[in-house]
Amino acid sequence: MLDDPLRWSSADQERALRTISRWYDLDFGPLTDDLEMILELASGRERVLELGAGSGRIASPLAASGHRVTAVDSSPAMLALGEPRMREAGVDLRRSDMRCLSLEARYDLVLIGLSTFQHLLRREDQLAVLGCARTHLAAGGRLLIDWTAPRPDDLDPTPGPMQFEWMRRTDAEEWVTKHAAQELALDRSCGSAIDRASPIAWITYQYDAVDDSGSVERSLARFPLRVNLSAGEMSGLLHEAGLRAVDWFGSWQLDEPGEGDRLIVSAEAA
Ligand SMILES: C[S@@+](CC[C@H](N)C(=O)[O-])C[C@H]1O[C@@H](n2cnc3c(N)ncnc32)[C@H](O)[C@@H]1O
Repeated sequence: MLDDPLRWSSADQERALRTISRWYDLDFGPLTDDLEMILELASGRERVLELGAGSGRIASPLAASGHRVTAVDSSPAMLALGEPRMREAGVDLRRSDMRCLSLEARYDLVLIGLSTFQHLLRREDQLAVLGCARTHLAAGGRLLIDWTAPRPDDLDPTPGPMQFEWMRRTDAEEWVTKHAAQELALDRSCGSAIDRASPIAWITYQYDAVDDSGSVERSLARFPLRVNLSAGEMSGLLHEAGLRAVDWFGSWQLDEPGEGDRLIVSAEAA
């Protein structure tokens, strides 16, 4: 299995997303706390651009509540899942890599939700996306980024255990169980993290679907994520991309940074 996350290709990414997209609605459909926060922060901002919109979990309700929404994603599997509901809600859907997006329109809010920013493994990719986001901001527009706050075990080289996340019933009356694990990507030659300053972890999602006869079908998706991304590092990236942070939050309930397990920044052109 691939060890070096920097050799991760878009074909590898799509293979993982094909598995994840099959269970995405069951997995993330019940999540609404981030959406409530986004609806609140988007208030009064008519034109919204979501980068990495995936299944349209956020873009569709934003459009249904009256915003003019453009949704961008690079994954055919995720777009296939989201397209019907996004079209129905009136979302303008674009298949594109957010690192090199170029649209004519400008937006009152550019959104990078649910840890999507952590799919950007290299500093040059992070800066490319922030640069694109800045280019697409209208005068007075805001960029909102929501990601997982650094955790104490992000830099622990011991592989994390496979942990139970949920067991849910599908419409097809199957029981599905999800487990997930996080393992720091190591340089096998010396056993240390590939880059402690910008660490990457392998995330494994394991879904087990049990049908009425008791047969189990297991699917695994393994993908790399940039972890331990601090507010300080994000401030530096924003500055380099010609942006500046206006507000920081630590949870979807808009607690102070450090008081929750998220980091959320609202930024504007500097
Ligand atoms: C964690 S999902 C989030 C989906 C959706 N925003 C939500 O909140 O449910 C991340 C999404 O980002 C997309 N993505 C990752 N890298 C991308 C890139 N370079 N360009 C466009 N989309 C990308 C993936 O295809 C995936 O759909």
